[in-house]
Amino acid sequence: MATWIVGNWKMNGSVELLGELLPAIKAGLPENLGDVVVGVCPPFPYLIAAAGQVADSPIKLGAQNVYPASSGAYTGEISPEMLKGCGASVCIVGHSERRQLMGETDEFIASKLPALLAVGITPIFCVGETLEEREEGNHEAIVGGQVRAALKDLSAADAAKLVVAYEPVWAIGTGKTATPEQANSMHAFIRACLTELYGESTARAIPIQYGGSVNDGNAAELLGQPEIDGALVGGASLKAPAFLSIINQALT
Ligand code: PGA
Repeated sequence: MATWIVGNWKMNGSVELLGELLPAIKAGLPENLGDVVVGVCPPFPYLIAAAGQVADSPIKLGAQNVYPASSGAYTGEISPEMLKGCGASVCIVGHSERRQLMGETDEFIASKLPALLAVGITPIFCVGETLEEREEGNHEAIVGGQVRAALKDLSAADAAKLVVAYEPVWAIGTGKTATPEQANSMHAFIRACLTELYGESTARAIPIQYGGSVNDGNAAELLGQPEIDGALVGGASLKAPAFLSIINQALT
């Protein structure tokens, strides 16, 4: 199983930062990544420039969102074909910030997965519970519901092409990481949902990343958990030394 380390820049950065950050990440990448897959997801306007910067490196370029139609009257939206044309091979889908701030529903999120797969882009499908849901003991029900709702019409062959990211909402940008045991147990639960839907061999082929305040101080312990197959990194992906350290900690 590959280990996926992906930076989610969110709505951060600038043309200047782009010019500094990607060359620094590229220059500092370990020579042999082994089975570690590295990706960066800058904001849309930077994709083409970023594609040029990562072109001669193993770094995958990703987007943070997509609209599930090829073209048409969808002002302000971006299609899977456009992302592909800009050089993206990965796309975050269903991030909790989009679910909460933009009102994205399970159904809408579900429609983005086949749209991306149709053009050969790997979706990073995000799930996670809020603090309230965890405190009420509903975290498994919520996350299981998100997984089943988004994947209900997806074939096993398509599901095998996904990356899943477990991101407890209470751990995102808060500095409050799930303990390695909490994260591992949720990953095992998600794997069980995937097994129920697709059988064990497909479920075992789908990497499940952890996300939520991953940094250079906690990555090794999180990535050392048997059910954790990578990290979706927000804040710490905006600093080359921290992101490179996380990548190094993923090498076994
Ligand atoms: P964070 O964000 O690492 O800044 O907590 C992670 C994410 O939301 O993907």
